[in-house]
Amino acid sequence: MSTRKGLILAGGTGSRLWPITLGLSKQLIPIYDKPMIYYPLSVLMLTGIREIGIITTPHDQAQFQSLLGDGSQWGVQITWLVQPKPDGLAQAYLIAEEFLDGGPSAMVLGDNIFFGHGLPELLASADAQSAGGTVFGYHVADPERYGVVGMDAEGRVTEIVEKPQVAPSNYAVTGLYFLDGSAPERAREIKPSPRGELEIVTLLESYLTEGALTVEQMGRGYAWLDTGTHGSLLDAGNFVRTLQSRQGMQTGCPEEIAYGAGWIDDAQLTALADRYAKTEYGAYLRGLMAA
Ligand code: TTP
Repeated sequence: MSTRKGLILAGGTGSRLWPITLGLSKQLIPIYDKPMIYYPLSVLMLTGIREIGIITTPHDQAQFQSLLGDGSQWGVQITWLVQPKPDGLAQAYLIAEEFLDGGPSAMVLGDNIFFGHGLPELLASADAQSAGGTVFGYHVADPERYGVVGMDAEGRVTEIVEKPQVAPSNYAVTGLYFLDGSAPERAREIKPSPRGELEIVTLLESYLTEGALTVEQMGRGYAWLDTGTHGSLLDAGNFVRTLQSRQGMQTGCPEEIAYGAGWIDDAQLTALADRYAKTEYGAYLRGLMAA
């Protein structure tokens, strides 16, 4: 089990998905058969994290709570936090300072979907790093749209730049950050950028200047899916559907992870499966006990 606390940043405006997100938080929209937030939540659970802070906008919080409750159905403990305005990703560490209580964390953006063979091992190796920070680089065709890492021949980070006109590499920084207990203190030093946000890149730079930032690469076998636009949302849903129906295995299934980790027992899983009796999801949960 991890000693880290988890954070999911699930606020924002989702303006690229209007009109869908005018009345519904982006992270509650389905990706095929599950709400989007199940996928990043599963990443934290796969890391072995059981204390999770979820940051939402004030007006969306009640809907997230009716979906996820206090987490006890999956053997985790959810703490609900609020970001009044989308003032940037690094603000999450200020909002969560008390919750983190000086300890290390893993933060995932609520709209990021990861899939890949070897993901649990990759997460475990980042989790084992007690000091400094770890981020994950992913090769993309259009790095100008992302925070990008420049690396030397040995794969050490040399720079990290937000939406560069000329990108130092094709490796985008994904929305998953393993940072040590100094993150809130570092976040307090950050001034808002010209676009008015507390930038995560600036926070990561503070680790980088001390030689305390590691980049793990997510190679060809990984999917890091975009869910920010109408087309990419549909693509992500189709990806999950294709994968799941071909393999007969779920991706982003919190019940399966909790059961596999021994956080919930047969009786608890049966109750969850019964609740979804009319769906393939329910049948899948039931099947986990026979496996
Ligand atoms: P973005 O995709 O940058 O922003 P957004 O989700 O508001 O969408 P749009 O660009 O269409 O308006 O945000 C990435 C993730 O981080 C997403 O899950 C929302 C979340 N987020 C916050 O919770 N708070 C913030 O201050 C910001 C900037 C983003």
